[in-house]
Amino acid sequence: MVKIGVLISGGGTNLQAVIDGCENKSINGEVRVVISNKENAYGLERARNHNIKAICEKDENKIIEVLKANEIELVILAGYLKIVSPKLVNEYRNKIINIHPSLIPAFCGKGYYGEKVHQGVIDYGAKVTGATVHFVDEGADTGPIIMQKTVEVKQDDDIKKLAKRVLEVEHEILTKSISMFCENKLTVNGRRVYIND
Ligand code: GRF
Repeated sequence: MVKIGVLISGGGTNLQAVIDGCENKSINGEVRVVISNKENAYGLERARNHNIKAICEKDENKIIEVLKANEIELVILAGYLKIVSPKLVNEYRNKIINIHPSLIPAFCGKGYYGEKVHQGVIDYGAKVTGATVHFVDEGADTGPIIMQKTVEVKQDDDIKKLAKRVLEVEHEILTKSISMFCENKLTVNGRRVYIND
């Protein structure tokens, strides 16, 4: 069973999907610690509701200590609104997974997070958006892509409606990607991720 650590900054619906996946055994993993850089992140409450260690910590050196102390083997960034340091990336090379609410390389990178992503999609007049799960490297939303799924942009969409539909897809592909990681089904070769299903 893979020991998982989750970094959050907000409500934690992606975190909840991962916790639920571990509990219903669709993920061969165990969330051992949740770390938030925001004290009032509801995701910390979600962790406590499932008797999971919930820690508020901004200092990335201390975050690495917590991950090591809990023997974490896979780090999930689930609505974590910070670019992780090269130190953390190196410590957990191809063992940090992020979920982004667009089809990378569109509407991603610096300044594109949360609702700003969907605002960009609507303002641009894009017909299709979606979600992306990827390994984290030193850049912002630039690591090798594990899985993507599209979401149609409807003519009467506003940010909230679009975000809701994309969020459902985020939960689906994040849990599927983590499940495959835990079954050793992912192979990274340069920028490409092969799924050995
Ligand atoms: C989601 O759109 C996620 O992709 C983005 O933050 C939003 C909230 O995620 N990073 P969550 O409900 O906190 O998991």
